[in-house]
Amino acid sequence: MAHLIDGKAVAAAVRDEVAEGAAAFEAAHGRRPGLRVVLLGDNAASQSYVRAKARAADAAGIDADTLLHPDTLPEADLLALIDQLNADPAVDGILVQLPLPDHIDEAAVIRAIDPAKDVDGFHPENVGKLVLGEETLEPCTPAGIVEMLRRTNVETSGAHAVVLGRSNIVGKPMASLLLRRGLDCTVTVCHSRTRDLAQVTRQADILVAAIGRAEFVTADMVKPGATVIDVGINRVEDATRERGYRLTGDVDFEAVSEVAGALTPVPGGVGPMTIAMLLANTLEAARRRAT
Ligand code: GUN
Repeated sequence: MAHLIDGKAVAAAVRDEVAEGAAAFEAAHGRRPGLRVVLLGDNAASQSYVRAKARAADAAGIDADTLLHPDTLPEADLLALIDQLNADPAVDGILVQLPLPDHIDEAAVIRAIDPAKDVDGFHPENVGKLVLGEETLEPCTPAGIVEMLRRTNVETSGAHAVVLGRSNIVGKPMASLLLRRGLDCTVTVCHSRTRDLAQVTRQADILVAAIGRAEFVTADMVKPGATVIDVGINRVEDATRERGYRLTGDVDFEAVSEVAGALTPVPGGVGPMTIAMLLANTLEAARRRAT
């Protein structure tokens, strides 16, 4: 049976370190690191993520505020709001929850955020630094996965890492991070058009599943002993559950746990790490801005 990687426990350790750092920051600068989370519309999943982010920030001694707007907000108004947050000295981190409504140009919104306050690490300037291997604010989900691999002593040097999914939020930055000096993986990125996918994923010592399809990764796609990181959070209808759905990852957990060496659960794996790294990025942004 696969070793279960406890994302909640690793995230709690990161959050404790951030809380210590935030307290020291407040003592030195007379204010808390400030985070503003912007959410348009009433998508239930987005609201639940955003609530979790704000709660965790508060608990870590970060001054967090959630700015809720209707999904009809004109793009110009959103850009004006971002300008205002860019100019606000009390704000260190700005996160605009994605996806945005269709009438808004997501790329334009991301470009409008001051790169120094871009705690998502999505601004082209920060993406460029990431690819160049320079210090930057790293996208929270892949950075959280790296932290989880490090803190659970997964050997990365020379390992073949296969990333399933090529999104800007997870797949592409994940590949850049795993390739970096210090992690030193051999990286393959797969996606929906990849030929003979199972033949590729079976070569993975580390398999990162981020395709957003429930239980897509089956046991026959996994090399025995591999470390499997499940980034997916999918709602699957389930009449036996009180809410009418259950949460499941991109990995067929039961079957893959018979083959993998280590596996992250959903929930309680990558999700808590994403939030912990957002807090770490907010503290980091505050420290850099204060010096
Ligand atoms: N939507 C899903 N994941 C993310 C994330 O990491 N950041 C933002 N801003 N939106 C998201």
